Amino acid sequence: MAGLVLDVCDLSVIRSGKVVIKDVCLTVDEGEFLGIVGPNGSGKSTFLLAVLGLLKSNSGTVRIYGHPPLSRELHQKIGWVSQAASYLPRNLRLTVRELVRLGTLHSGNLYDFDSQNRRNRTTQAILMTGLENVQNTEIARLSGGQRQRAVIARALATEADLILLDEPLVGIDRESRNSLLKLLDNLCHEEGKTIIMVSHDLTAISQTAHRIVFLEETIRFDGPTSKLPDLGKLASLRGIEHVHQD
Ligand SMILES: Nc1ncnc2c1ncn2[C@@H]1O[C@H](COP(=O)(O)OP(=O)(O)OP(=O)(O)O)[C@@H](O)[C@H]1O
Ligand SMILES: [Mg+2]
Repeated sequence: MAGLVLDVCDLSVIRSGKVVIKDVCLTVDEGEFLGIVGPNGSGKSTFLLAVLGLLKSNSGTVRIYGHPPLSRELHQKIGWVSQAASYLPRNLRLTVRELVRLGTLHSGNLYDFDSQNRRNRTTQAILMTGLENVQNTEIARLSGGQRQRAVIARALATEADLILLDEPLVGIDRESRNSLLKLLDNLCHEEGKTIIMVSHDLTAISQTAHRIVFLEETIRFDGPTSKLPDLGKLASLRGIEHVHQD
């Protein structure tokens, strides 16, 4: 039986006095590819930040591999691509390869910057994201989509078992998007990684994710992608009535 990776129980988060996440319960098993969808401002990024422990929850519990967020035991186990990850400072003088290599760095290997193992992981992440042609280019000179792929490569280079991505497909053209989704899918099937991806791109997410969660303050739908209700149904799950009288 696949192990339990994420166990969220009755999670609520209040931001600036407003309830953003309420009573969310969710479990994710090893090797799952979970897509999270929902309208703007529905709490998707907030949920990921609370899972990571970067945002304090007001009630409920989060356990990742049985440990609370930010535990020592989770060190190097989680890869994270934030919604704003590709907005790197314009004056950042790093090449793609250097940025990706930073993903392999942790407190235990700070003095071993150039090990073969880290070089290999860097190269592999660059190949996986199709950035070999620009690996020696400075980040500031990349297109938006290339920069997005570079921050994803950095997360892949960590060798994390659980990868969280917040809107990783924004600004990526269709061809690169498909190869990226295929790559993420392979990571689940062949390497047993667990992926949680937030995306507005319902078509893309339903092509790849095994399971979809529709989050709007709380979970309105959680099930296999094939069972996702159509958008009209989702609107009624959200309590929104049709504006037209038939
Ligand atoms: N830094 C903040 N301080 C206070 N409230 C915030 C902050 N960031 C977001 N919020 C509020 O929390 C709610 C949920 O925001 P969140 O960013 O989680 O939504 P989202 O589902 O990720 O939206 P999007 O699809 O636009 O990325 C929104 O009402 C937003 O106004
Ligand atoms: Mg968001």
